[in-house]
Amino acid sequence: MRFSFPSTELRFFSSHAEWKKALAAKSGYSLIDRGSGVRAPSAFLLNGGEREKSWQRLERVLIWLAEKNAERSEPLVVIGGGAVLDLGAFAASLYRRGMPLVLVPTTLLAMVDATLGGKTAVDLRRRGRLQKNFAGTFYPAASVWILPDFLATLPRRERLSGAGECWKMLWLYGKGRSDQALVDYVETGKVGPELLALIRFCLRAKARVVKQDPLDNKRIREALNFGHTIGHALESQSRLSHGEAVLWGMAVESQLKGTLAPEVIDVLRALGLRLPLALRKPKQKAWKAALRADKKNRGGKIELTIAVSPGKRARLRVDFPILWQALQDFPAAFQRAGARPRA
Ligand SMILES: NC(=O)c1ccc[n+]([C@@H]2O[C@H](COP(=O)([O-])OP(=O)(O)OC[C@H]3O[C@@H](n4cnc5c(N)ncnc54)[C@H](O)[C@@H]3O)[C@@H](O)[C@H]2O)c1
Ligand SMILES: [Zn+2]
Repeated sequence: MRFSFPSTELRFFSSHAEWKKALAAKSGYSLIDRGSGVRAPSAFLLNGGEREKSWQRLERVLIWLAEKNAERSEPLVVIGGGAVLDLGAFAASLYRRGMPLVLVPTTLLAMVDATLGGKTAVDLRRRGRLQKNFAGTFYPAASVWILPDFLATLPRRERLSGAGECWKMLWLYGKGRSDQALVDYVETGKVGPELLALIRFCLRAKARVVKQDPLDNKRIREALNFGHTIGHALESQSRLSHGEAVLWGMAVESQLKGTLAPEVIDVLRALGLRLPLALRKPKQKAWKAALRADKKNRGGKIELTIAVSPGKRARLRVDFPILWQALQDFPAAFQRAGARPRA
């Protein structure tokens, strides 16, 4: 399969052996997330996780490439979760003004969300505060390689985090698609054909969106932030994984308009998730401060795109009091839904 934005080749592998063969055939350099379990003798190994996305790490990678005398025509293969992919892609975009990039995502979130679209990044640490993705480039990968075997070793927290982003794509673009495979994967870690079909669906949907808005300046990609206004603010007040915070975020945001809310709450219920403290007993001051930090604020208003029903989207512009009301109403809505069996 080849998407024309901007010509990223998407390759699916059905076995580890086939993938290893392709990797061996690819001359060049590899950056590897230790958490992926992959080892290669001459690779640059990284621990994985958000801490890798720093200027210091970026410089280390560039120096490593320079010491190896890497040429700009030689590919950099980056294998790992979204954090390592963001860092590696940034390095590839900078080294001698850009070398070919192959991304091999090894988490569910990275597969569906961090490969297509060309965004690379490191975080900035300023006065003790972490400013995520504050510096980066647009640099689409030449190839993205998907090997579902990687999904089998993910812990539940990471399975749920990736699944949150898959639900987002299903609700934004996937009218009528069943999500049972996602519930099963989060619960059991089992990787079946239905899950693979969902991953392909998410990638296709993302490819369509980023193709229409490659540099994220036409407001089309904004839809991909469904659940992230509340989700990011919740993340800053809890220890939830990103995708779980986004799931709760979609549940709250979908209370604002449309008919999707009960469906989102059903998923949270089916996963046996407990209402986080910041939603159970929301503190106005904390929420106000967290939402003020949202980068999508314009003229004092909070702008968000939500799914109003599966496959149907709406853009909203609201004041803090509207969101605060939704937050206050949410615990009761969540409890009420608990009384109903999942449809
Ligand atoms: N560039 C983009 O468009 C884009 C989009 C979405 C997210 N992101 C970025 O992605 C990052 C989040 O990615 P993530 O959710 O993959 O988290 P992550 O990269 O932090 O990885 C989570 C953990 O899983 C481990 N891991 C990796 N592969 C594994 C495997 N197969 N089995 C077991 N453990 C494994 C990692 O070592 C790490 O400890 C964030 O930094 C976010 O900003 C980028
Ligand atoms: Zn996200």
